[in-house]
Amino acid sequence: MTAKIYAVGVGPGDPELLTRKAERIIRSAAVICSPTGAADAASYALSIVGDLIDPARQEVLVQVFPMRKEQEGLEAFWDEAAAQVAERVRAGKDVAFITIGDPFLYSTFLYIYRIFRERYPEIPVEIVPGISSINAAAAAAGIPLGMAAERIAILPTTYEDDELRATFARYDTVILMKVNRVFDRVYALLKDLGLERNAAFVRRVGSSEEEVMFDLARLVGEKLDYLSLLIVRKG
Ligand SMILES: C[S@@+](CC[C@H](N)C(=O)[O-])C[C@H]1O[C@@H](n2cnc3c(N)ncnc32)[C@H](O)[C@@H]1O
Repeated sequence: MTAKIYAVGVGPGDPELLTRKAERIIRSAAVICSPTGAADAASYALSIVGDLIDPARQEVLVQVFPMRKEQEGLEAFWDEAAAQVAERVRAGKDVAFITIGDPFLYSTFLYIYRIFRERYPEIPVEIVPGISSINAAAAAAGIPLGMAAERIAILPTTYEDDELRATFARYDTVILMKVNRVFDRVYALLKDLGLERNAAFVRRVGSSEEEVMFDLARLVGEKLDYLSLLIVRKG
């Protein structure tokens, strides 16, 4: 089999933060696939690479998966998505899965990757790393992630308060992904720990809608963007 699946990290939002390899593959793949748990995120990923895609020559396949806590029943969606892709690869077409940031960092592609490794081991998969939203957010906020012997933690904000407390106690820098829905609770915790002024909230970094906010109190009670994260750095 000569055709391949590429998992291509397209960076956080700025098309200039795309690697040369990502650009080459996106321009040449017969199929561009955007697997995501949020329709919004699919269009965001596509908007980053929109100028590189030629709809007359390339097929764009958007696969939106329901986002919910219980994974039961979701397997059927992943299976169907993987089957659609396998069919195209077997027909000799290269498929580029585009993911925001880096494909191996909390991306939806990873669910499909697991299915491919188990059910279609003959299909080659190449991972093309991208600049993650974490790197771009740290740069935009001017907050170094770690130096010397410091410890860095990255976690989705699905943990209870006691676990978050333990993380803040153990690590010098903490990055909270998917923080939008639980921001008020996290803010209360940061205040309790005296860390509310040691944090930056970064939204849609790299895009024209980018926002970096240090006054977190202003965000309490607001409806926040899924594409946002919090960097907390002690000291
Ligand atoms: C499913 S994860 C994808 C992470 C991605 N693979 C990466 O490398 O950045 C989605 C979470 O990443 C973060 N994120 C992704 N893109 C972002 C952006 N442009 N600005 C701020 N946060 C972003 C948010 O915390 C969001 O809830």
